[in-house]
Amino acid sequence: MKKILIVSGHPDLNDSFANKTILEEMHKLLPDAEIAYLDKLYPDFCIDVPKEQERLLRADIIVLQYPLFWYTAPSLLHRWIEKTFTHGFSHGKSGDKLKGKQLVLSFTTGAPEEMYSYDGPQQHLIDDFLTPYKQMANLCGLQWCGYVYSGGLSYASRHDEKELARMKEKSILHAHRLVEKLKSME
Ligand SMILES: Cc1cc2nc3c(=O)[nH]c(=O)nc-3n(C[C@H](O)[C@H](O)[C@H](O)COP(=O)(O)O)c2cc1C
Repeated sequence: MKKILIVSGHPDLNDSFANKTILEEMHKLLPDAEIAYLDKLYPDFCIDVPKEQERLLRADIIVLQYPLFWYTAPSLLHRWIEKTFTHGFSHGKSGDKLKGKQLVLSFTTGAPEEMYSYDGPQQHLIDDFLTPYKQMANLCGLQWCGYVYSGGLSYASRHDEKELARMKEKSILHAHRLVEKLKSME
């Protein structure tokens, strides 16, 4: 089995429902996968670059797990990418350390899936917001392996018991979909 690294970019999993559930389920389904919880490791945003580059070197498959915040990943995950994907490591003339590894995005959104259409309230397909990640993969020689995403996991619905049950089920299903995808990449 390939070595899987899941990088959790949620800024505070104590205040998460969907990502917390997905990560708990992933841990149960793939106990050998390494999970880096950036909120626990770097609440101060001071990324330990050598440690994180080592983590990347160990992995065959890199999964970025996050809630969509303003159409992109939360700032903590961006900070981790900015500091860890350095010239000479991930890209540049001699920067080939990520070459051949596989990249998968796994994310949740508050808006339901159907809102991400050209004639819907979000005015774009969800794919449109992923262009920077696709090009980052391309520049670093990472294999872009697509994404698993679940919408309708709104922060605002957390006080409604029925909505919570629906979101729990959807988050667990998300984890199973992600595992299916990772297994298909073997
Ligand atoms: C600061 C912030 C920005 C957000 N931006 C978006 C957004 O651009 N699109 C969207 O569909 N949902 C957005 N949401 C909703 C989150 O994506 C949603 O609450 C999250 O995926 C739920 O995951 P969690 O329970 O793990 O926090 C935003 C939420 C916050 C707090």
